[in-house]
Amino acid sequence: VSSVPGRGGAGGGAGEDSVHEVRVRISGGATYPVVVGVGILDRLPGLLQELAPAHRYVIIGDERVLEHHGTEVRRLVLDAGSTVEVLGFPPGEEHKNRGEWARLTDEMLRLGTGRDGCVLALGGGVSGDLAGFVAATYMRGIPVVQIPTSLVAMVDSSVGGKTGVDVPMGKNLVGAFHPPRFVLADAELIRTLPRSERSQGLAEALKHGAIRDRPYLERLQALAPRLLAGDEHATAGVVARSVEIKADVVSRDEREGGLRQILNFGHTLGHALEAASGYRISHGTAVGLGMILEARLGEVVGVTAPGTATHLEAAVRSAGLRVTLPAELDGGEVVAHLGSDKKARAGQPRFVLLEGLGTVHGDERPGMGWSHAVPVEEVRQVLESFQREGI
Ligand SMILES: NC(=O)c1ccc[n+]([C@@H]2O[C@H](COP(=O)([O-])OP(=O)(O)OC[C@H]3O[C@@H](n4cnc5c(N)ncnc54)[C@H](O)[C@@H]3O)[C@@H](O)[C@H]2O)c1
Ligand SMILES: [Zn+2]
Repeated sequence: VSSVPGRGGAGGGAGEDSVHEVRVRISGGATYPVVVGVGILDRLPGLLQELAPAHRYVIIGDERVLEHHGTEVRRLVLDAGSTVEVLGFPPGEEHKNRGEWARLTDEMLRLGTGRDGCVLALGGGVSGDLAGFVAATYMRGIPVVQIPTSLVAMVDSSVGGKTGVDVPMGKNLVGAFHPPRFVLADAELIRTLPRSERSQGLAEALKHGAIRDRPYLERLQALAPRLLAGDEHATAGVVARSVEIKADVVSRDEREGGLRQILNFGHTLGHALEAASGYRISHGTAVGLGMILEARLGEVVGVTAPGTATHLEAAVRSAGLRVTLPAELDGGEVVAHLGSDKKARAGQPRFVLLEGLGTVHGDERPGMGWSHAVPVEEVRQVLESFQREGI
């Protein structure tokens, strides 16, 4: 991964007009750029001509995002000198499904989109995953460009090439790896994003700090009020650093055999909390709680430095996320859901554990790996003690 700051400063300061480019490596040695900055949407026509020339562009996004940003993006694509169609779908995770995939692909066929078409995924992670999967499968795969508009999409889902839909058996169970031609992340788009959605994105950014970069974690905590208020310069700096971290990890392990597992920190328990709550706890909230709990779990089994969970709790709180478990949540129910996690092997739940803030415990040697099996009884005790008396 190389990071090429443009005019202006590096990630942290993100001075006026700074543009950051992070390169993500994919199999075969090719790379794609993630371009991050403030007010940089007008680079779209040039980037399309250079990296994703097409006969026809199809913008796919949820209707709320299209309402805010669809017209401007459409105008910019027209500037690239090609025809453009806009296809919307209703906002919400419940529409990231096979029905919408079928409707969108049928619509593209009806429009006569050929193999020389290109999909522009405009929106949050739902739009990115759904539009990306449409592109991955349409005529066995046509190019996709990611234009993330939520903080979750900017710091997480637009980078790494995973696309897909939810099915009745679970989330993201049908999908494909389909890396984009490029990602254009304009932090100015965050202005229209609700504050609670900014918190959701901050949870993933905190995770990046927790696994790879303690100073970044501390900077996030200090910047949280500005980030929650939608400050686009602070946001651009954070997106640039988070993308660098995620890009570095996925470039070393494109398909999730090894190092990529560390991105799962906070997610084993996070997913179980989401499922046990009947998805009333949002993903970012569950990941915030999952990080605190997995840090405590690591402390209890003697892998994680004491005090890590307390520090993470303060960081999660600063992001505007809850740091207590709902009283009605049943610990046994949460533990039962650990077994159904995609990443559990042979029934024993496995966790990515920190050594301390900024460092994950584990290594590349065969047999070591990046996750630890922990007996469910220990997990249950940590959960119940946290529910009773907090950290
Ligand atoms: N592919 C991956 O690697 C990956 C990684 C993490 C998450 N995901 C997926 O991402 C999804 C969650 O992403 P999300 O939180 O962005 O959800 P989302 O796409 O539903 O966006 C959240 C809400 O914000 C609205 N929104 C987005 N951008 C906006 C803007 N600029 N202004 C106003 N409103 C805006 C959307 O309409 C939606 O209502 C999940 O489906 C998850 O599985 C994928
Ligand atoms: Zn996540």
